[in-house]
Amino acid sequence: MSEMLRTLLSIDTFKNGRGPRYLQLRRLIEDAIRNGLIKPGDALPSEREIASRIDLSRVTVRKAVQDLVRDGVLFQRHGSGTFVAPKVGRVEQSLSILTSFTEDMASRGISVRSVWLDRGIYVPSPEEFVALGLSANERVVRIARLRIGNDEPLALERASLSAKTLPDPNAVGSSLYEALEKTGMRPVRAVQRISAALLGEKDAELLGVTAGSAGLNIERTSYLASGKVVEFTRSVYRADAYDFVAELRLPPTAATKQEEP
Ligand code: GLP
Repeated sequence: MSEMLRTLLSIDTFKNGRGPRYLQLRRLIEDAIRNGLIKPGDALPSEREIASRIDLSRVTVRKAVQDLVRDGVLFQRHGSGTFVAPKVGRVEQSLSILTSFTEDMASRGISVRSVWLDRGIYVPSPEEFVALGLSANERVVRIARLRIGNDEPLALERASLSAKTLPDPNAVGSSLYEALEKTGMRPVRAVQRISAALLGEKDAELLGVTAGSAGLNIERTSYLASGKVVEFTRSVYRADAYDFVAELRLPPTAATKQEEP
């Protein structure tokens, strides 16, 4: 722990504070981040250490820390502690343009990397069979990745494609759409369904948030110009990191009426 942080987390700083103790601690940590005393990626001292330094109960410390985790200021990694969250900020994603994760991040200057969770050829599940419009004996390629922007886990994406569309799962480098583009299989249209979700333990751990945090489930079915399905992808996005934005226009008849003198 840095000397600055040690001084900050001392009984003296806490002597004259007002309001509930957990809110005081919360403000202290937020100020320390704002003033650069602790930086994105820095580890916070353990709850026990904070509690003993400023003479608070561990329950109070935990409440302050959990509040900051919930608000995306801090994040926790199982077994390794609590850290200051990197500053990707909330990503605003248009709902009307068909782009890839890699392109979405590149347009915001965010660097992308992925951790592969699965890639292989499988016998399709009944859901994949229907969603991809497969014929008997067709196989599916499954690609599952943890998608990371500026070193911050943002989404989990599990894509299924017919093995006829993508015969070799290893042909995918950093971008699925880039691999599909090379073989003329990049989708030109997609239908996307978004629903609210609470993150289960496993997904939450991969995304570096606490279990039960809010998530967005996104199901994308994308198509070639011919109408053939290209991918059926189920993604889970961190709700604290993403805003999906839709542009709304008047229906054509109403718009014409408005233009009339
Ligand atoms: C988005 C979509 C996925 C799609 C992915 C491709 O995130 N939700 O359905 O598979 O982009 O991204 P990339 O080309 O970066 O792999």
